[in-house]
Amino acid sequence: MKAMSIRPILLHPDPRLKKAADPVDGITPELLRLADDMLETMYDAPGVGLAAPQVGVLQRLLVMDCVKEEGAPPRPMVLFNPEITWLSEETNVYEEGCLSIPENYADVERPAEVRVTWLDRDGKIREEQFDGLWATCVQHEIDHLNGKLFIDYLKPLKRQMITRKMQKMKREMARA
Ligand code: NI
Repeated sequence: MKAMSIRPILLHPDPRLKKAADPVDGITPELLRLADDMLETMYDAPGVGLAAPQVGVLQRLLVMDCVKEEGAPPRPMVLFNPEITWLSEETNVYEEGCLSIPENYADVERPAEVRVTWLDRDGKIREEQFDGLWATCVQHEIDHLNGKLFIDYLKPLKRQMITRKMQKMKREMARA
């Protein structure tokens, strides 16, 4: 069996990060391979979530692991075609970041709890209610599948400032 591999993460601004992804049509070995690569890429970054468009694949797939407690076992999750079926009225504010927008963080308010259904690696329908960081993370990643970034929740001026910083960072990386 071939080892997992780390895939390059697209950086904002990139048109592929602004597109809605297509639902997966059955769980194929290629998609499972992609999911494993995405988990490897996420843990390596390190990050708590990663969506397929961030590695240039416009399919509805995300991975996450929001276990934070020291010494607690990891909980790598793979969600195909995730859908939010319920949002709490209560909201939460988290300082969010994104592997496609490194070194930039901002407070984002979102529903504090969400119920999500998805297909797991075996193609079985799963449903779970998330709270805390898990709820924020799954909403952030599902946004990616809809071509939405956390900076889209910010005031235009702040968003433009971050985008300009990122453009500069990308120019410098291209020159290096
Ligand atoms: Ni992100």
